[in-house]
Amino acid sequence: MQIVRTLLGLREAVNTYKAANERIAFVPTMGNLHAGHLKLVEEAKLSADRVVASIFVNPTQFGVGEDFAAYPRTEVEDEQKLAVAGVDLLFLPSVDDMYGDSAKTVISVKNLSTLHCGASRPGHFDGVATVVCKLFNRVQPNLAFFGRKDFQQLVIIRAMTKDLDFPIEIKSVETIRESDGLAMSSRNSYLGLEERKTAPKLYQALCAARDEMLMGKKAVQAIEQDAKIFLQNAGFIPDYFTVCRASDLLNARQEDTDLVVLAAAKLGKTRLIDNIAFTVAR
Ligand code: PAF
Repeated sequence: MQIVRTLLGLREAVNTYKAANERIAFVPTMGNLHAGHLKLVEEAKLSADRVVASIFVNPTQFGVGEDFAAYPRTEVEDEQKLAVAGVDLLFLPSVDDMYGDSAKTVISVKNLSTLHCGASRPGHFDGVATVVCKLFNRVQPNLAFFGRKDFQQLVIIRAMTKDLDFPIEIKSVETIRESDGLAMSSRNSYLGLEERKTAPKLYQALCAARDEMLMGKKAVQAIEQDAKIFLQNAGFIPDYFTVCRASDLLNARQEDTDLVVLAAAKLGKTRLIDNIAFTVAR
């Protein structure tokens, strides 16, 4: 696996792939890789001639008082995992290489970026959209892979890709879970022992809400309210728990069929997010 740390190094490597007419799949990450990330690489390998991955803990998607400084950085282990997984090229830029000291442009995907997680983390999705846009311009992939665990991020990146005419196919990959249902996340390492035992209740609440929706006997608001009470009683501080249309993440209406239940909740100092998408037969 080749490792490059600058835009110039990346361009040289990508240009050799392009000259050989090779299709490039891209897997952007913030490192601290787990099985969910490796599943993205596995899927990427099946769809292209070359897989380019990036590791960049992007400061612009962290708010004031969030965990940018504490975010787990495990570069050596990550490099090994990506090499074993068969990544061809790893891009490891510095903050200075990505933004310099005078970057003025921000990509903002209107409406979608201020809902749900965006309401609690102002500016977060502008940071995500901006860095993904820059990475797309740098890597120029044919396809890019994102986990469905970050469902709102996925919807925003799809909108940005379409609106800015990137000729890139966005592929989504299933959420990988621990055996007790907890969605894999780099932030799970913040959980204490007791919190770790409680954490799968977030997924249990999502499954229960989905099942209620499929039964169709209870009002959406009651389903959301009961889930929040369940989570509070389990020791979480719920941020939001909402049944939405999968396409635009607005409140689900009676006639909508492609739905997603999105949830975020704090357990101690750890903010967990998860979701379940499903289709209702009408
Ligand atoms: O999902 C992530 O790890 C990040 O938000 C991403 C897409 C790599 C952008 O920094």
